[in-house]
Amino acid sequence: MNLKTYLTTRAKDVDAALDAFLPKAKERPATIHAAMRYSVFAGGKRLRPVLCLAAAEACGGEFSRALPPACAVELMHTYSLVHDDLPAMDDDDLRRGRPTCHKVYGEGMAILCGDALLTEAFIVIGQTVATKRYNTRDYITELAVTGGSRKLIGGQVMDLEGEGKKLTKRDLVRIHEAKTAALLMTSLRLGAMTANASPAKLEALTLFGHALGLAFQVIDDILDVTQSTEVLGKTAGKDQAVEKSTYPAIIGLEASRKEAVRLTAVAMDALNPLGKSAERLREVATNLLKREF
Ligand code: IPE
Ligand code: IPE
Ligand code: MG
Ligand code: MG
Ligand code: MG
Repeated sequence: MNLKTYLTTRAKDVDAALDAFLPKAKERPATIHAAMRYSVFAGGKRLRPVLCLAAAEACGGEFSRALPPACAVELMHTYSLVHDDLPAMDDDDLRRGRPTCHKVYGEGMAILCGDALLTEAFIVIGQTVATKRYNTRDYITELAVTGGSRKLIGGQVMDLEGEGKKLTKRDLVRIHEAKTAALLMTSLRLGAMTANASPAKLEALTLFGHALGLAFQVIDDILDVTQSTEVLGKTAGKDQAVEKSTYPAIIGLEASRKEAVRLTAVAMDALNPLGKSAERLREVATNLLKREF
C-alpha cells in the first residue's frame, strides 16, 4: 500500500470504529450526541489514531487490536479542540472547515460536548485487549496522565498564561511538549502496547513521538502565519492576533522551518532500533513535514 492509500484506508477504519463506539445521534439527550458527532466527524486528519495503528503494525501487531486506543486518542484530541476553540480560550469560529461546536450548539453545549468526548475516550480505551506485558489499567493510566494537568491541560494552561508575554524558546518547548507532543507520543505508545512491544521498542517510539510532536506544533504555528483560512479549515493568523508566543514569533519563519526539519531528523533517528518495520512511520513523518494544513 502506498502512503496515501494507507492513510485513507486507516482513517476509514478509524471512522467506522468511532461511529460504532459513539452514541447514535438520536440517542437521548439528542443534542449532546449530535454535537459530539458533529465535532468528531468534521474531517480531521486522524493523525493520532493513524500513528497508533501504524505503531502497532511496526511492532508486529494487528492494527485492529489498536482500534480502541486509536479512537480514544482521537476523542481526547477532539475534546481538546472543542474546548480550545471556546470564547474563553482561543475564541475560534472555524474548525475543520466548519463553524466551531459552540457556534452551532452554543457555549454551554460545547463545554458539555468536550466533557462527554473526554469521558467517552475512557469508555473506549477500557475496551483495549490486554497483552502479556500490558494490562487494561496500563492503557487507561497512560491516557489519563497524558490528558491531565501535567500534560495536555497543563500545556493549555501555559499557552493561555503566555498570551501577550514574550516567552523564551525553552518555555515554548515546554508548552509544545505538554499540549501537543504528549498526546502524539501516547498515541504511538498505546498502539505499540497492543502489539505487546518490548520496553526497547516502546522507548524508541516514545523518543520518536516526542520529536515528531514538537515538529508538528512548530509546523502548526508556521501554517498559522503562512497558510490561508480556506486551506487550514481554521482561522489563519489567529496566533499573532492574540499575541501567542509561537516559533515564528520568537525565532522567525525561516528558523522555524529549519527547526521543524531538525526535529523530524531527530524523530527519524529514534526509529533506528525498529529497523525496516518502522518504514511506514518514517513515511508519515516525512509527509508531515510537507503538510499544508
Ligand atoms: C490541531 O491538530 C491542534 C494541534 C495540536 C496543533 P490537528 O492539526 O491534528 O487537527 P485535526 O485533527 O486534523 O483537525
Ligand atoms: C492546540 O494548539 C493544542 C490543543 C488543542 C491541545 P492550537 O491552539 O495552536 O491549535 P489550533 O491552531 O487552534 O488547532
Ligand atoms: Mg490553543
Ligand atoms: Mg487554538
Ligand atoms: Mg495553532
